[in-house]
Amino acid sequence: MKKFLALFLAGVLAMSLLTACGGKDAAQTDSGNNEVEDTAQPEADAAQPETDETEDAAQPETNEAQDGTEDRAGSEAIADGVLTVGTNAEFPPFEYVGDDGQPDGFDVALIKAIGEKLGVQVEVENMEFDSLVASIGNKIDVAIAGMTVTEERKNSVDFSDAYYDALQYVIVPEGSEIATFDDLAGKTIGVQLGTTGDFIASDDVDGASVSQYNKAVDAVNDLINGRVDCVIIDKNPALVFEEKFAGQVKALDGAQFNFEVENYAIALPKGDTALAEQINTALQEIKADGTFDKLVEEYIGQ
Ligand code: ARG
Repeated sequence: MKKFLALFLAGVLAMSLLTACGGKDAAQTDSGNNEVEDTAQPEADAAQPETDETEDAAQPETNEAQDGTEDRAGSEAIADGVLTVGTNAEFPPFEYVGDDGQPDGFDVALIKAIGEKLGVQVEVENMEFDSLVASIGNKIDVAIAGMTVTEERKNSVDFSDAYYDALQYVIVPEGSEIATFDDLAGKTIGVQLGTTGDFIASDDVDGASVSQYNKAVDAVNDLINGRVDCVIIDKNPALVFEEKFAGQVKALDGAQFNFEVENYAIALPKGDTALAEQINTALQEIKADGTFDKLVEEYIGQ
């Protein structure tokens, strides 16, 4: 709050300086500002389109003073002061539904810490993992969901700097003989729909029949029921499920399957370099000031 106020005052000062130097430029550096202006004075705009310039120059401070958008002038996504974040809270310890019914977990805490650095309010929307990427830029501003950076996803979204290394693991029933990649051939494999575990099972494993679930825990339940032979899922959730269903399943290290290391990053609207820069800077600060390690310890442990 304090920081917000400081940024805000700095912005107002910058704004009046800019205005003094040339009202038109000042008013047009921020499209969010123009929006406010347009709605505020529709008749004037309609009546005198050519004099827009004078008008923009005449009243920028008023609008700035009210919404403070100049703090975040670079990114329209957060110009309203709210970062709307999509996640899929079915992926402990990164995200899960907490006792209060709200999304919690490492990623949720991390994005809230980032929001604090940016001086914006963070609103978390829980949705299906498979719809996150397509929702960026419309339903949500960004997504944080233990999401692996992939070339395919990069066609639709940008990614922040990576914040965590991951690896797919294989959950099997106690006593299973599955131990290597070749053992997966022809098996029935449970995965969460649209995840990198799904891509391995569907694209790389010979003759597998793949059961796709919206919730990872349902895949693990079907493993226990004997409906699937194994579940491919990221390491940390695999370890959480191994503990939760101790004695029934075990989690096998993806290294013995030669799976490749993956990187988690925040998915961002394509081309919003201003937002990417702000989020990356916040991430660096959070790492530098020890907050990141504290969150790892609190939520992930090992
Ligand atoms: N890392 C994997 C991927 O990007 C799985 C992520 C699943 N995350 C979740 N919140 N359900 O595909």
